[in-house]
Amino acid sequence: MWNQPDKGELEAERENTFIDDIVQKAHIERELLHSLDGIRTAFDGGAGCGRFSILLAKQGIHVTHFDISQPMIDKAKEIAEREGVADRITFVKGALEDLSAYADRSFDLVMSFDSPISYTYPNQEKVIGELVRIANKRIMISVSSRLGSVPYLANPIQKNQFILNENSKDSWVQWCLSSRGQMIDGFAFNKESVVNAYDTGLLGDVEETKEAYDRGESPWCVTYHFMPDELEGILKRFGVKNISLAGPGAYARTIPNEILVKIMNDPKQRADFLEFCHMYDCNPYVCGMGKDNLFAKGEV
Ligand SMILES: C[S@@+](CC[C@H](N)C(=O)[O-])C[C@H]1O[C@@H](n2cnc3c(N)ncnc32)[C@H](O)[C@@H]1O
Repeated sequence: MWNQPDKGELEAERENTFIDDIVQKAHIERELLHSLDGIRTAFDGGAGCGRFSILLAKQGIHVTHFDISQPMIDKAKEIAEREGVADRITFVKGALEDLSAYADRSFDLVMSFDSPISYTYPNQEKVIGELVRIANKRIMISVSSRLGSVPYLANPIQKNQFILNENSKDSWVQWCLSSRGQMIDGFAFNKESVVNAYDTGLLGDVEETKEAYDRGESPWCVTYHFMPDELEGILKRFGVKNISLAGPGAYARTIPNEILVKIMNDPKQRADFLEFCHMYDCNPYVCGMGKDNLFAKGEV
């Protein structure tokens, strides 16, 4: 799926198209910029279009930008060159499932944001262990959140709440708008699938996904969704200390689209809102309800 030729271009734009993405990326950006003490090198696993690798390169950090998809890497290279930081970034095409090329404690900071770890199902725990192994000081990750994502199964129009501009040319925005009625008409609450996702943490059907790949299609891959205590436990087992969790988007998901758009279109309100979202979403009692992602940071 991530190798589709237009994926890099689309993903780079989506961060300006959907408010939930803006809230999530703002949260991570704030966390990163406050955690750069003593950090000279960083590894970004599943770095995509370079939203965070380029941000760190701009701070003078040498970053290894690691991703499975060539179109995503190409897009990141283009942006890094435009921003004048390409010489501080090493681009590597590879899968998180194999980090054997890197020695223990190779990078001061290891990060992986917006679910690459969840895409490595069924190897997600081993991948977290490997990311911890190559970290020298700090690890920061965000993975798919089970408590945050299971509500989607009862809300096929969840993405509509976060459309910033209904006139956007983005194909996903236009699809969300045009299919809204159909999604509501065709919806029926399916307790079995909701309970199954809640119990197993899996969204997507392994057999169906495999058959679609075999037919030459590029379906959304099966992803593993973590519970907060589960993620904390895994990190602890691998020796990570001072762990804190957050759920970017937990506050924003309580607000209707019309109000979110109003806030986003006023620079002062937008800045204040994103700052408060960060404060609220760091509360451990709501962290599981982050929109999509569960964020974790800790010291190695
Ligand atoms: C949702 S994007 C996130 C990009 C970036 N981390 C961000 O937060 O903007 C997920 C990225 O993970 C990459 N990815 C997916 N599976 C991967 C794997 N097994 N190994 C390495 N990268 C992977 C995809 O190519 C894609 O660029």
